[in-house]
Amino acid sequence: NTVMNQSLAGAFKDDFLIGAAVNAHTVLSQRDLLLEHYNSLTAENEMKFESVHPAEDTYTFEKADRIARFSRDNGMKLRGHTLVWHNQTPDWVFEDEGGGAANRELLLARMKSHIDTVVKRYRDAIYCWDVVNEAVADEGEELLRPSKWLLGIGDDYIAQAFRFAHEADPDALLFYNDYNECNPIKRDKIYGLVKSLLEQGAPIHGIGLQAHWNLKDPALDDIRAAIERYASLGLKLQITEMDVSVFEFNDRRTDLAAPTAEMMRLQEERYGQFFRLFREYRGVLTSVTFWGAADDYTWLDDFPVRGRKNWPLLFDTNRQPKGAFREVVGLR
Ligand code: XIL
Repeated sequence: NTVMNQSLAGAFKDDFLIGAAVNAHTVLSQRDLLLEHYNSLTAENEMKFESVHPAEDTYTFEKADRIARFSRDNGMKLRGHTLVWHNQTPDWVFEDEGGGAANRELLLARMKSHIDTVVKRYRDAIYCWDVVNEAVADEGEELLRPSKWLLGIGDDYIAQAFRFAHEADPDALLFYNDYNECNPIKRDKIYGLVKSLLEQGAPIHGIGLQAHWNLKDPALDDIRAAIERYASLGLKLQITEMDVSVFEFNDRRTDLAAPTAEMMRLQEERYGQFFRLFREYRGVLTSVTFWGAADDYTWLDDFPVRGRKNWPLLFDTNRQPKGAFREVVGLR
C-alpha cells in the first residue's frame, strides 16, 4: 500500500525538514528507520555542555562527532542542541577557584570559549543552533528563570550568547528554544524576550517550539496563536522536540503495559491536526523534529515518571509505522 511505502520526510519534502533526536546508541539501533524517514537530526544529549565540556580544560567530542559523521555520511541536516541551558551543565562552570560563585567576567569568558570551541568544531556539520534553551520562567513566575547563568551574568547573558555564537559561525542560523511555548502567558514572555533581543540587535534568526505535547494539551488554537505571534517577529520557526505523550502531565499512572485503543485513536487525531496546521505555515516553519524516532526509545520512558513506558512517536516499538503515521502522511 502506497501510504506504507511513503517516507515521512518525502511526504513533507516541499514543506519542511523532518528530524529526529538521536544518541550514540540509536544511530545504530534505529539506523534503517532514520535513513528511510528522516532528513534531519539533533543530538539528544551528546552536544550538551556536560557531554562535550566536562571540565574546564577537557573537551570530549567523541560521541558528538559520531553523530555529526552519521548525518554527513547520509546527507542529513543537523541541528545543534544546545549551548546555554540551566540543565546538564557541569558545576565547575559556575564556580571560581576558591569554590565560590564565579563572577560575571569569569562566567562570560567561559561561556564565550565554550560556544567558540563547540560552534567552530561543527561549522561544516551544523546549520542551526539552539543557542539558549529554556531561559524563560513558567507561568506565574518572573520573565527569566533564575538560573546560574542569569544570577551570575545578569539579563544580558542571552544576547551575549547569541553574539558569541554568531562570531563563531556567521553562517549558522541561531535559535531561541523553549517549552510550554503555547501557554498564553509563557508565549507572551517568550515573544517579549525575543522581541527585545531583536531590538538590541542580537543575531537571532529563529524560535524553536519544543512541542512536548499530549493527547489534550495544548489546544490547537493555542498552538496556532503561538505560531502566529512568533512569526509576527519575522523569524523562522522550527518544531524542535515533538512528542505526543499518551499521558496528561499530571497523570502518574504506571499500570499500562500497552497504550489503550482510545489513546491511539486520540493520538492519530492529534497528530493529523498538528501536521495540517504545520503545513499551513510552510515557509515560516522550516523543520519539524521529533524527540526520538520510534517508541522503542523515548525520554518519556523516564519523564516525568521514572521507568513508565510511553508511546509518543509515529513509529511503534518495533519501528513500524503507527496509525498516527498514516494519518500524517495520508494527508497528501
Ligand atoms: C532530555 C533528554 O531527552 C534526556 O535523555 C535527558 O536525560 C534530559 O534531557 N528539553 C530539552 C531537551 O531541551 O534537551 C531535553 O532532553 C528534554 C526537554
